[in-house]
Amino acid sequence: MKVLVATQKPFAPVAVEGIREVLDGKGHELVLLEKYTDKKQLLDAVADVAALIVRSDKVDAEVLDAAENLKIVVRAGAGYDNIDLQAATEHDVCVENTPGQNSNAVAELVFGMTVMAVRNMYDGTSGSELRGKTLGIHAFGQVGRNVARIAGGFGMQVSALDPYCPDSVMEDAGVSPVHDIRELYSRNKFVSLHIPATPETTRSVGYDLITLMPKGGVLINTARKEVIDEDGLQKALRERPDLKYVADVKPDNADALLEEFPGRVFFTPKKMGAQTAEANINAGIAAARQIAEFFETGAAPFRVNK
Ligand code: 3PG
Repeated sequence: MKVLVATQKPFAPVAVEGIREVLDGKGHELVLLEKYTDKKQLLDAVADVAALIVRSDKVDAEVLDAAENLKIVVRAGAGYDNIDLQAATEHDVCVENTPGQNSNAVAELVFGMTVMAVRNMYDGTSGSELRGKTLGIHAFGQVGRNVARIAGGFGMQVSALDPYCPDSVMEDAGVSPVHDIRELYSRNKFVSLHIPATPETTRSVGYDLITLMPKGGVLINTARKEVIDEDGLQKALRERPDLKYVADVKPDNADALLEEFPGRVFFTPKKMGAQTAEANINAGIAAARQIAEFFETGAAPFRVNK
């Protein structure tokens, strides 16, 4: 079977080689489309493939229409908001993700950016430390759990909110469960976002929650830009000169924020939480294995569409 890896933001070469090995070993053929700039390139490339591996690449109805032989799409990563699940189901295409495979990489970046924020974006002035400080984890999935583990090393006091996660899972990780979103924001100096982008979470973190944060609060977003109400964030930063916002998912109003709040906001140039060789290897190889398994046995353990 032909398996297309279509990545605008490519995997590390070592991960591509790993994917190739897995697919070769099962008699499949790897086709590579990296750093494409035009949707037309993707539409042409999917025309005769049976499987597709993507990252944040958009797989919409047009792509699915163009992919006549497509049976499976694997999002090498966690969030699948880039894939039109309903259209995939209508095209009889299975969609899977690879949960957990890149979560340590994202969690490490949370601390890379948090330390930078409390050291005043490394401007040489006196900053502060994380030890003993409160951290709220907004959603306790795979990334949130890695954040909690690393926070333990920093000596932080960690709490988390996640209606889908039993309290016992948090407690076993040394994390205090919180059941009220306002409490999560009001009791933690640091809040790290790990909610997926869904209709329910879109623009769900805005002025009201952000301004509940204690003095000197830092909001860290390695999740999705869509979960932030950007106007509300701007208003909160304007009213509360003590707050900072650091994000791996650049908001649409990034330029305005950078200009208005120098030293208080930071954005990576493009989403790079999962951009490590290790995460690429883990997620890429998991995706290749899931595809091989699907064609061999029909199993799709991480299927996300109906
Ligand atoms: C994910 O959902 O897995 C992360 O946001 C990483 O996305 P990426 O593969 O586009 O870097």
